[in-house]
Amino acid sequence: MESWFIILVSLSVCVFIRTIFFSLHNKTITTPPGPTHIPIISNILWLRKTLKLEPILRTLHAKYGPMVTLRIGSRPAIFIADRTLAHQALIQNGSFFSDRPKGLATGKILNSNQHSISSASYGPTWRALRRNLASEMLHPSRARSFSGIRKWVLHTLLTRLKSDSQSNYSVKVVNHFQYAMFCLLVFMCFGERLDDGIVRDIERVQRQMLLRLSRFNVLNFWPRVTRVLCRKRWEELLRFRKEQEDVLVPLIRAKKEKRDKDNEGSLNDDVVVSYVDTLLDLQLPEEKRKLNEGELVTLCNEFLNAGTDTTSTALQWIMANLVKYPHVQEKVVDEIREVVGEREEREVKEEDLQKLPYLKAVILEGLRRHPPGHFVLPHAVTEDVILKDYLVPKNGTVNFMVAEIGLDPKVWEDPMAFKPERFMNDEGFDFDITGSKEIKMMPFGAGRRICPGYNLALLHLEYFVANLVWNFEWKVPEGGDVDFSEKQEFTTVMKNALQLHLSPRV
Ligand code: HEM
Repeated sequence: MESWFIILVSLSVCVFIRTIFFSLHNKTITTPPGPTHIPIISNILWLRKTLKLEPILRTLHAKYGPMVTLRIGSRPAIFIADRTLAHQALIQNGSFFSDRPKGLATGKILNSNQHSISSASYGPTWRALRRNLASEMLHPSRARSFSGIRKWVLHTLLTRLKSDSQSNYSVKVVNHFQYAMFCLLVFMCFGERLDDGIVRDIERVQRQMLLRLSRFNVLNFWPRVTRVLCRKRWEELLRFRKEQEDVLVPLIRAKKEKRDKDNEGSLNDDVVVSYVDTLLDLQLPEEKRKLNEGELVTLCNEFLNAGTDTTSTALQWIMANLVKYPHVQEKVVDEIREVVGEREEREVKEEDLQKLPYLKAVILEGLRRHPPGHFVLPHAVTEDVILKDYLVPKNGTVNFMVAEIGLDPKVWEDPMAFKPERFMNDEGFDFDITGSKEIKMMPFGAGRRICPGYNLALLHLEYFVANLVWNFEWKVPEGGDVDFSEKQEFTTVMKNALQLHLSPRV
């Protein structure tokens, strides 16, 4: 046979096999399954359901498996409810899963065009902003410089709770928790104790924006059209931002003026370095400039929201469980008694916390059962990645079912029960919350976008829970019970705010 004929046949066979292989390959590798998408109509339906997304997703996961695709906007949004897949995405393929979606219309107002840590694209600006927060504010040595203020806030909280419990049989605790967290974060942000009225003003403008955020989602769909159709809503957004600026800008300016004055004279080493101080010093690497006033407001807003609402929500859920299960509350008190003894001052100090493993287990069990955020923030995907035989396409977004992942029965026996003991072992307490080797729960996310404030949040929760139970016995009022129903706000909060009866322990 002629050799040219053999070569031709061999080449044709190769091309044929390659074509078959690729067509099969392309057929099998699709995005994860999901409900049928009808352009425009599906978008409108999803928009109406943003606050009820979680139960819908649970049903979809039961039908389609741990990966589901929705088409909420113009790009596929993939939701993952499996801890191993979360690890594959966020840790093993971290470099492709660490971006954020491109700025939306409301983002221009809310995050100064992606100039906040949580909204910034995965790049030099994000790195600079995140590094500033992590090393200048959250580094253990810097975090320690705020221990005096934590003690003062604790004292204020205990005094207010005592006075409220003396005049009322049952106390609505969440308002006290929120105010305490605001006092703390406002001090860290501006570096001074502000008048009660100013703290209340900050709390008001921050919460009004936070609680209405979901109302503004509609403005991101066909912005040119919705800005006209929903003019009132757009104006409301602008008004809220203006009110925020009216409260925060004078504080930022006062800080700047004080620094300028101090720099003229001698610097006082005793002055605490606040978040605003670190931001005023920061240089944006790409744009080669300092932050402008709007960006400073955005970053203060992020700092205050990230550190107050999440922590006070977690605090409320944890206290709810300590009331529901008094034996757990007593076990925490017994552990504290062993460490603190009959010390005259009734304070569990920050140094004591390292000796309280059961307390740490209670906090983690609280975060596992009731993570304040049931999702992380959306992650944008920068390359096509295959996960569990599905295509996670470049430019899609991915999110993770945080609450579901913490309830996996393969990891957690009797997952719905509140059992802090599951975090204890023979050496005491040992658990890696970052999930770097294996994800078992992820209340703070995982990987490169993991919450940079997780150590501070754990410190706040341990310090406040320890002192709250050390100073008061917490009970459900006669004839009442703890209602664990949930409600979706910025975080997942208790639907019926906790009303408790407090009796001082001494
Ligand atoms: C119990 C308290 C807290 C919880 C449950 C929590 C949870 C989370 C979660 C789930 C994320 C999203 C992670 C992702 O997108 O993958 C996040 C991001 C973030 N958190 Fe927290 N957080 C808490 C407290 C704090 C505190 C105290 C701060 C700082 C003062 C903070 C600052 C941030 C920031 C700046 C981000 C954005 C990180 C980035 O995009 O690189 N958080 N947090």
